[in-house]
Amino acid sequence: MDLFTWSEKYSVGVPAFDRHHQVLFQLINDLHRAMMQGDSFTVARSTFKRLQDYTQYHFQTEEKAMHASNYPDFAVHRMQHERFIDQIMRVCPEFQQPDGHPSSKLLGLMRRWLRTHIMGSDAKLGEYLRQTGADRLPGIVAEEQAEADSAQEMLAGREARSLS
Ligand SMILES: [Fe+2]
Ligand SMILES: [Fe+2]
Repeated sequence: MDLFTWSEKYSVGVPAFDRHHQVLFQLINDLHRAMMQGDSFTVARSTFKRLQDYTQYHFQTEEKAMHASNYPDFAVHRMQHERFIDQIMRVCPEFQQPDGHPSSKLLGLMRRWLRTHIMGSDAKLGEYLRQTGADRLPGIVAEEQAEADSAQEMLAGREARSLS
């Protein structure tokens, strides 16, 4: 059973961002499953790495949109992203040792943080982008398809891996 289910209440009203958040939720669920099923350390570590990479990619996308739209709270929002990446990086050493494993506290922290951030800061950003029409800026629209493709690839990779 999934630990964390995306639903409309998490929608920030910007389809590209919602898709990203859905992928992030699924990656957290994958990591949780890998830990609960006692998967090998290698599987847990590669799942963690995908979650980390996708988080970075997602944050960069939001930051580009904030920059392009002159978002007034850009600095604060970016600082929240940086703090989160920093927290993830601090957990990395647990994955450097062959017998290391992420604590369930880490999972709790990640899902709590993402949920709070998505329903707070990201929702506020989504509202701003919609109200100013910036969610339709050529740069953001052009990226929507690329992001959709990339999310599809991420999910396809995930399915391929889970079948192997
Ligand atoms: Fe954000
Ligand atoms: Fe986000």
